[in-house]
Amino acid sequence: AHEISRVRNLSKLQIGKYEVEPWYFSPYPVEYTEEEIVFICEFCLSYFGEEKRFQRHRTKCTLLHPPGNEIYRDSTVSFFEIDGRRQRTWCRNLCLLSKCFLDHKTLYYDVDPFLFYIMTTRDEYGCHMIGYFSKEKESAEGYNVACILTLPQFQRHGYGKLLIAFSYELSKREGKLGSPEKPLSDLGLLGYRAYWQDTIVDLLLNNKGLETTIDELASMSAMTTQDVIHTLQNLNMLRYFKGQHVICLTDAILNQKQKQIEKQKIKGKRTLDPELIQWKPPV
Ligand code: COA
Ligand code: NA
Repeated sequence: AHEISRVRNLSKLQIGKYEVEPWYFSPYPVEYTEEEIVFICEFCLSYFGEEKRFQRHRTKCTLLHPPGNEIYRDSTVSFFEIDGRRQRTWCRNLCLLSKCFLDHKTLYYDVDPFLFYIMTTRDEYGCHMIGYFSKEKESAEGYNVACILTLPQFQRHGYGKLLIAFSYELSKREGKLGSPEKPLSDLGLLGYRAYWQDTIVDLLLNNKGLETTIDELASMSAMTTQDVIHTLQNLNMLRYFKGQHVICLTDAILNQKQKQIEKQKIKGKRTLDPELIQWKPPV
């Protein structure tokens, strides 16, 4: 099918307590394009053109978290796993919403072949979605992420890194190496590059003095060897010496790491605790 690049069709979305401007076209029913605001129920992801109808829905909607199993919980964040086949409407609504912020991907009306991993923050009103990634149940190409999104109102707070980290933790449990589906968007590439660099540099720092190989870095991180090599090359850390690849931590990298640590002391750092993941690969 042809993917026609169409202009942004909705002016404004209200999701929970946030108002957000869509970035791209999303195939919501055409009558919604006339509305000044489209109201989205932050729990069931249904959409409404009229505030009254939306309010009436809110009094009836009983969902307080994404409709699946909670497979991770720490002091602030929970992850839920949703099966596209079991929660078709919810997942289609999610795809419609996320298409507002994704330019290049075709929208998956057929959500059955995917699992959706939804990241939320909890408060007394429920579990509020911050972002998610989708993953094919079977990926012939070895992709461990299909689509990934942090809702715009939560971007640049380290949540993207958490989502990516989670996707690699699932790959580790599957005993597989994984990589995100290509092509990545510009933002996707920035997010992944940052994650890959951090991961590789941290592994090398923790391994100080000991020899390591590209294959070992791949198996420790669940990154593909290709992604490990590209990361090392981008960081100018891969040298060729006497016919062999040598990995070197450069001063530039060590300085950059030091700056990052200082920045995180101020900003705070979001981390994932892999021990809190309650998940086994489906058999
Ligand atoms: N400009 C420059 N660098 C950026 C960036 C931007 N707008 N957004 C992310 N990065 C890089 C930075 O290095 C950042 O670290 P820093 O904030 O400490 O400098 C790092 O990525 C991680 O950022 P983080 O806050 O963890 O990511 P995020 O929550 O903003 O989410 C995406 C990243 C890709 C998920 C988010 O941009 C997004 O949802 N984009 C729209 C959907 C999309 O394109 N998805 C990918 C294709 S499927
Ligand atoms: Na729908």
